Amino acid sequence: MKKVFIKSYGCQMNAYDAERMADVLAREGYAETGAVEEADLVVLNTCHIREKAAEKVYSELGRVRVLKEERKAAGRDTQVVLAGCVAQAEGREIFRRAPVVDVVVGPQSYQNLPALLRQGRGAMDTEFPADDKFDALPALEPARIRGRGVTAFLTVQEGCDKFCTFCVVPYTRGAEVSRPVARILDEARRLTDSGVREVTLIGQNVNAYHGEGPDGAPWTLGRLLHALAEVPGLHRLRYTTSHPRDMDDALIAAHRDLPQLMPYLHLPVQAGSDRVLAAMNRKHTADEYRRIIDRVRAARPDIALTSDFIVGFPGETDAEFEDTMRLIEDVRFAGAFSFKYSSRPGTPAAEIEAQVPESVKTERLARLQERLEAHRQAFNHGTVGRTLDVLLEKAGRHPGQLAGKTPYLQMVQIDGAGLSVGDVVPVRITAAGSNSLFGEAVAGVPAASAA
Ligand code: SAH
Ligand code: SF4
Ligand code: F3S
Repeated sequence: MKKVFIKSYGCQMNAYDAERMADVLAREGYAETGAVEEADLVVLNTCHIREKAAEKVYSELGRVRVLKEERKAAGRDTQVVLAGCVAQAEGREIFRRAPVVDVVVGPQSYQNLPALLRQGRGAMDTEFPADDKFDALPALEPARIRGRGVTAFLTVQEGCDKFCTFCVVPYTRGAEVSRPVARILDEARRLTDSGVREVTLIGQNVNAYHGEGPDGAPWTLGRLLHALAEVPGLHRLRYTTSHPRDMDDALIAAHRDLPQLMPYLHLPVQAGSDRVLAAMNRKHTADEYRRIIDRVRAARPDIALTSDFIVGFPGETDAEFEDTMRLIEDVRFAGAFSFKYSSRPGTPAAEIEAQVPESVKTERLARLQERLEAHRQAFNHGTVGRTLDVLLEKAGRHPGQLAGKTPYLQMVQIDGAGLSVGDVVPVRITAAGSNSLFGEAVAGVPAASAA
């Protein structure tokens, strides 16, 4: 059997796509391997969001080139595929900069991977076809789902029409497209039938979802979540990533009404200054964001909120950065990703003259992260002493332990005696470490089981 090594960078959409590529390649006789040196086919599924990400890809390709040469000397061929957003953005340029690459395939064309591989050297597909690429990919197979654990991503929407001035995604992923409700329900049933207990709906702008419902009308994400909550065996639902502009009442109400919908919301705000938000083309003010948070918390008071931040957007002043610091003190996030602004060729913000010096970005990021980390720790310590349902996902750190997640997406380590992966068990949280909580299963029957 031939072997394929797939490495994915970037967002969850890419992680999901990597699984679907593995599925399509399995049909072509490829088994997945974690050892790149034994791979007949190497797929790098790339991310273009920040400068460093693309650089990492090119240095990784340098290593792949050495490997390919070594394998060649031993009489074995290796094909190299460059997939994902760097593939989409750079196109043919990749063959020039990294001749080791055989095939270039953009995020909307994975269904054509077998044909491209047969074509061989120089084959490329970076089209944005009108059809749902997932339709053309093989349906999820039970054995393959089971090998991937009790939690799964499910892409419901792709692409973005928001055009934030710093971001490459609208160019690499194309316009917003939502998958029809029936397809999503079918995929969710396949997943749960094979043991998946938690599904995270993913999309670049997941709450802009507007897929066609069985009634022919476009459904919102709130409505889709209600339908998914009816799927037997599907204990937990999550969704990411949302845009503040698309947090509608139905979605907020779903957080109040659906016990399956976990009390967790990732809602990127990027900055706390109205001028910066406008320059970013985020189309909302800092206070509008605060009001959204108020509404979400009114519907679900215990909800864990997380966000993304960019410091040093072109022209960001000290005072404007302080607005971001004020916003985080007001909201107190349970977690966050924060980045220095990085200039992306082809985006409007890259054209702004007043770029912020690197040293200033570094200093702002350190200050922001220090506070965000303090808030994260405070949130985690706040759960100590509480009893929370934990979905057991995998073996824990030490022998006999199991690890799982709370509704707030915190990792917990517990003594796994008598328990199995896939169980949802009430756990009393006893301590909070820096990256994990510790707890004890509360005696009694598991809240739900994978059986
Ligand atoms: N669709 C999501 C997130 C997309 S990218 C949203 O609307 O927010 C994930 C995160 O990467 C963004 O939230 C942003 O914080 C960060 N990011 C995107 N482009 C960036 C850039 N040019 N420089 C620094 N961070 C960036
Ligand atoms: Fe990028 Fe903005 Fe679209 Fe998010 S909403 S993917 S940050 S353009
Ligand atoms: Fe990166 Fe593309 Fe996702 S640029 S963040 S892999 S959509």
